[in-house]
Amino acid sequence: MMRLDKYLSEAGVASRKELRAMIKGGRVQVDGETVRSPELRIDEEAAEVLVDGSPVRLPGIVVLMLHKPAGYVTSTDDPRDPTVMELLPPEYRDLFPVGRLDKETEGLLLFTNDGPLCHALTSPKHQVEKEYYAETQGEVDGADADAFRAGMELRDGTKCLPAELRKGERGCYVTVREGKYHQVRRMLAARGKPVLYLRREKEGSLELGSLPLGHTRLLTEEETTALLGQV
Ligand code: URA
Repeated sequence: MMRLDKYLSEAGVASRKELRAMIKGGRVQVDGETVRSPELRIDEEAAEVLVDGSPVRLPGIVVLMLHKPAGYVTSTDDPRDPTVMELLPPEYRDLFPVGRLDKETEGLLLFTNDGPLCHALTSPKHQVEKEYYAETQGEVDGADADAFRAGMELRDGTKCLPAELRKGERGCYVTVREGKYHQVRRMLAARGKPVLYLRREKEGSLELGSLPLGHTRLLTEEETTALLGQV
């Protein structure tokens, strides 16, 4: 059983606050009856819910993409810093982040309501590719690319899987298949090229594309299906 306002919010109809007004205004029917109580508990698997006469169903797996700005920590709760949750539309704040980006890293960060998908995307077993754009102090060169390809050892002895390093027009592009703590920063620092700016641009089949900084978008069904096929 689930509260009617929660059901409609999870179905993406409107924000919790707007929904209360819609329900009180008589725009919502449950099993053929107009209902006016947002707290009404309904059977989310069996109830027929209509809004303005159109059926509304709960989505299955929800995946949201955020273009994370610098200055936000990837956490659902933090005593000091603003968290990425503050950047999500209110109706998506019960999703959880998939992996993490450092406070100062920008770029593609996913959120989902699906535990197994989250686990699969972050598990070392699946080796999902992640591509980063980095600007460094000092230009990367062929020797750096060779070291990345061979599988680097970090300053504390941590061993990394083989990775790709490609020089771009301005910065460079790094592709890794794991997600160790501060990995890209530590790999480049180990080559004497400390990172000045870092942005994740791709994760598996997904690309940040032209999503503006600080904005979110839901993945389409095709994108979600493709993502599930990779893990
Ligand atoms: N590597 C890093 O160093 N930082 C990130 O946020 C992600 C990958």
